[in-house]
Amino acid sequence: MTGALATPRYAGAAAPISDPALGRFIAGMPKSEYHVHLEGTLEAEMKFALAKRNGMALPFADVAAMKASYVYHDLPSFLAIYYDGMKVLQTEADFRDLAYAYLARAASQNVIYAEMFFDPQEHLKRGVPIAAVIGGITRARAEAQAALGIRSQLILCFVRDLSAESAMAALDAALPFKADLVGVGLDSDEAGNPPEKFREHFAKARAHGLKVTAHCDIDQPDTLRNIRTVLTDLNVDRIDHGGNIVQSPELVAIARERGITFTVCPTFSGTLRKRETVPVDVVRAMLDAGLKVTISSDDPAYMGSEYIDDVLIRAVERSKLTREELVLMARYGFEAAWLPQADKDVMIARLEAYVKAG
Ligand code: ADE
Ligand code: ZN
Repeated sequence: MTGALATPRYAGAAAPISDPALGRFIAGMPKSEYHVHLEGTLEAEMKFALAKRNGMALPFADVAAMKASYVYHDLPSFLAIYYDGMKVLQTEADFRDLAYAYLARAASQNVIYAEMFFDPQEHLKRGVPIAAVIGGITRARAEAQAALGIRSQLILCFVRDLSAESAMAALDAALPFKADLVGVGLDSDEAGNPPEKFREHFAKARAHGLKVTAHCDIDQPDTLRNIRTVLTDLNVDRIDHGGNIVQSPELVAIARERGITFTVCPTFSGTLRKRETVPVDVVRAMLDAGLKVTISSDDPAYMGSEYIDDVLIRAVERSKLTREELVLMARYGFEAAWLPQADKDVMIARLEAYVKAG
């Protein structure tokens, strides 16, 4: 096996902003991220490097051809590309390099804390041991914290369109490493895979001290029913996406009462949104409904390589977000961290000092 890949260096945010001072404020602001799929940060360049290291052939002539194939119009068509892309991840070193590259890029944009998703069932299916997956990511987390000061935790996602048995097998395989996990989540294709399919998994994870979150992607079949289930039955600690909630004042009231934070990814919501069912501007609608919203980048490698600063800038432009609203969402983020209160207070104090100085 050869050594670690060189950590890529990245320029600052590139998305255009009509108020450059606000762009500079965003760039310098201490941030957190809660909705980023590590496999969704696998950039085309790294796919080629890992394929070479692992002696695999890829069906693309070059990076440009690979990126040109990232064309999708709904959740299943996105997921097909995303799952195909992650096949180059084979070894502990691959997972280390993937996670370190994300953390380096996040740290370069002043993300000081991240909770990151991964999809172990997909890797177990290919025969990659869970120890390699979690071990590589955990090594990257420690190295990034030591070298770059970014703190992070890991959330194991159940791939909801695979069987309940496969999800339980992944959880059981991962539990010996539970010290390296902070929670479990639920992602992939929601259609026909309601959250209650994972009732036992969530209960077992909680019994082992893990937190619980779940995707409620935009405009999925039975979305309001599924949002109700995760809110009132499965009692999740957070909701990922969840924008359709604004269609139900009753559910909004429950989420507000429970103090639920929503990890919203406007880039992806924009792709999935069907205009007739949900407001064009999900972030604005959720904020105006009094919900706790924090913004994340989801699968940036498949979304124009736009990481958090670009995502925030586009959200500012689309949703006419003010500086105060950006700070409020950053604060919601730190408050939602699955960390001891004292640690959250330190991060909130950093945010407050930045705002005061700015
Ligand atoms: N897997 C990776 N990204 C996802 C998303 N945004 N929704 C559901 N599953 C995913
Ligand atoms: Zn997601």
